[in-house]
Amino acid sequence: MTNEQDQPQPGACGDNTTDSPRRLPGATRVAVTGGAGFIGSRVVARLLRTGSRVQVIDDLSTGNIGQLREAMALGLSDSDIHVADVRSRDCTAVIAEWHPDVVVHLAAQASLPAALRSPLVDADINIRGSVNVLEACTRADVGLVVFAASAAIYGQVRPDCLPVTEQTPITPSSPYGLSKATALRYLDLFERHRGLAYVALAIGNVYGPRQIGANSGVIPRIATAVVQGRPPHISGDGQQTRDFVYVTDVAEAVVSACTGRGRGLINISSGQEASIKEVFDAVCTVAGTAMAPRFVPAVPGDARRMVMEISRARTVLDWQPKVGLADGIAAVVRDAQTPRAEVAV
Ligand SMILES: NC(=O)c1ccc[n+]([C@@H]2O[C@H](COP(=O)([O-])OP(=O)(O)OC[C@H]3O[C@@H](n4cnc5c(N)ncnc54)[C@H](O)[C@@H]3O)[C@@H](O)[C@H]2O)c1
Repeated sequence: MTNEQDQPQPGACGDNTTDSPRRLPGATRVAVTGGAGFIGSRVVARLLRTGSRVQVIDDLSTGNIGQLREAMALGLSDSDIHVADVRSRDCTAVIAEWHPDVVVHLAAQASLPAALRSPLVDADINIRGSVNVLEACTRADVGLVVFAASAAIYGQVRPDCLPVTEQTPITPSSPYGLSKATALRYLDLFERHRGLAYVALAIGNVYGPRQIGANSGVIPRIATAVVQGRPPHISGDGQQTRDFVYVTDVAEAVVSACTGRGRGLINISSGQEASIKEVFDAVCTVAGTAMAPRFVPAVPGDARRMVMEISRARTVLDWQPKVGLADGIAAVVRDAQTPRAEVAV
């Protein structure tokens, strides 16, 4: 049986990949690092729908081949999937031998708490790994790099400076934000000194079905706990806000960036601010449950409020989010209610 989220109901959100895919020049060759991950697997499927040829580079540390089920149905084969670390020569060899037109660099240590626990590992993957990918791109004459940065590059922003724009100072307040910001600086440097063009997407808080495992986001974690009848842990007082964006909207933005219509930093999110407590209440409503969350100490370095200005994405990428928070939360709750054996992961 298939995952309910892969079969969107009319009017509901799901992966919805048949929805007007972006046009890339025919048979554009795109290498996607982190292509077996939560976001990457959706990007790979969307790219294939545009007629692009895709190679995946992923060490499967948090991603898995099961995430690529839709991509495999669209023609991705085992030989298009390279199990390799972005810090390794195996990774650079794939780029050197295949000569992609575009490299979408999503592979990362993507967890803010994990980066706090192990900043060295985070820096090694997110900085050294990124530099290794950029060097390979330069040598292989890659035309464009599309990089997944994060809202975390902006750090703790004063309320009167919200929403963050692409001109907001980059002052990360966590190791994860710092490693993403440093990779961004390297992108700038490689563009200026080696002519490597890039688009960096400062992505908000991404959520959606199949966001499980070590990097599970706050919405799936709350939904899973509520569906299982356990009070979810909420850090701090729950009044901290985030700008949540649905995963298929992010995949669409990445594919749009692959067309080469933008350059530099572009914010990608919903442009809407929601508190964790509001998310919890919405999950309870959809699940038809009433309970109280368990509040635990706040994570150091976590931003108090975040909301992003996304007009540049609208203008430059001709992109806008399509899935509202209520619909997105409903999709995640349905996913949490689906027995795991029935879910393709
Ligand atoms: N999920 C979010 O809320 C969010 C927000 C902003 C930015 N991002 C960024 O988007 C990208 C994708 O994140 P995601 O949420 O899909 O996380 P994910 O963990 O599902 O995806 C990361 C992928 O990279 C792979 N990977 C990790 N380390 C690797 C390495 N050393 N070499 C090769 N592959 C490696 C993993 O196996 C996984 O498939 C990341 O760069 C992340 O920092 C995510």
